Amino acid sequence: AAAATEMAPAARGEGGGKPFVDEMRAVAMRLHTKDQAREGEKEPQAPPVARWEPTVEGYLRFLVDSKLVFQTLEDIVDRAAVPWYAEFRNTGLERSEPLKKDLEWFTEQGHTIPEPSAAGTAYASYLEELSEKDPQAFICHFYNVYFAHTAGGRMIGKKVAEKILNKKELEFYKWEGTLSQLLQNVRTTLNQVASVSSRALIFTLLFLSANLSSHGLVLICFIRYQSWSREEKDHCLEETEKSFAYSGDLLRQIFT
Ligand code: HEM
Repeated sequence: AAAATEMAPAARGEGGGKPFVDEMRAVAMRLHTKDQAREGEKEPQAPPVARWEPTVEGYLRFLVDSKLVFQTLEDIVDRAAVPWYAEFRNTGLERSEPLKKDLEWFTEQGHTIPEPSAAGTAYASYLEELSEKDPQAFICHFYNVYFAHTAGGRMIGKKVAEKILNKKELEFYKWEGTLSQLLQNVRTTLNQVASVSSRALIFTLLFLSANLSSHGLVLICFIRYQSWSREEKDHCLEETEKSFAYSGDLLRQIFT
């Protein structure tokens, strides 16, 4: 009975607080500049997207680096060195295949596809390293890379296509199925890995009714989803700045 009362607050989501992905989003939104998003708090340091003067060469460098970064994220969750990374396989948000098709299209148009730049390879190796040593920080990047691309990234893609691609819509900006639903599924998974999931709660109730010792009960809950401590959550949120720095380096290539 003691174990059951201990489990209840955690099962509701860490003291009844808001879902963890809302915290991730709030931190990310604050790191935008005021001209990038309504909730942005930073002063602009670069020209706004509307005034970018993109080149095909720069945009290709960005696409090549993006493909490397998405491929790296996808390989990491496929390998699942940390078992719960497997929850992020086949979300429908994967971007390396669409990018491969886009690069083939550029080749057909007579463009030369560059090798990944230093910015791209630096980010890919940083992600590899984090994925093994620091899962909470890794998940911060996973969230920001995928979600940024569906928000600001899409808007950027549209502006660039208007200016230099004769409005050609790249596969990079097309998803199979309903994007909002795919995003919602990933938000749910993020909330589940960060908090004790409802699945773990069901285990708890089952074992309660089976009248097992409270010791056995606690063990079962932790085998399925060990929820993140407040410190681990904060550590994940603190990584957001690095995510913006690395992604910013990739984006900047479009107009420099
Ligand atoms: C959301 C713009 C760069 C991460 C958004 C939104 C806009 C935007 C307009 C939607 C805000 C809303 O829901 O009302 C931009 C622009 C960028 C940029 C113009 C650069 C020129 C980035 C970067 C990151 C990032 C570098 C992180 C690597 C996010 C995240 C969201 C978001 C996580 C929330 C998405 C969601 O809740 O579905 N951005 N952004 N953004 N952005 Fe950015």
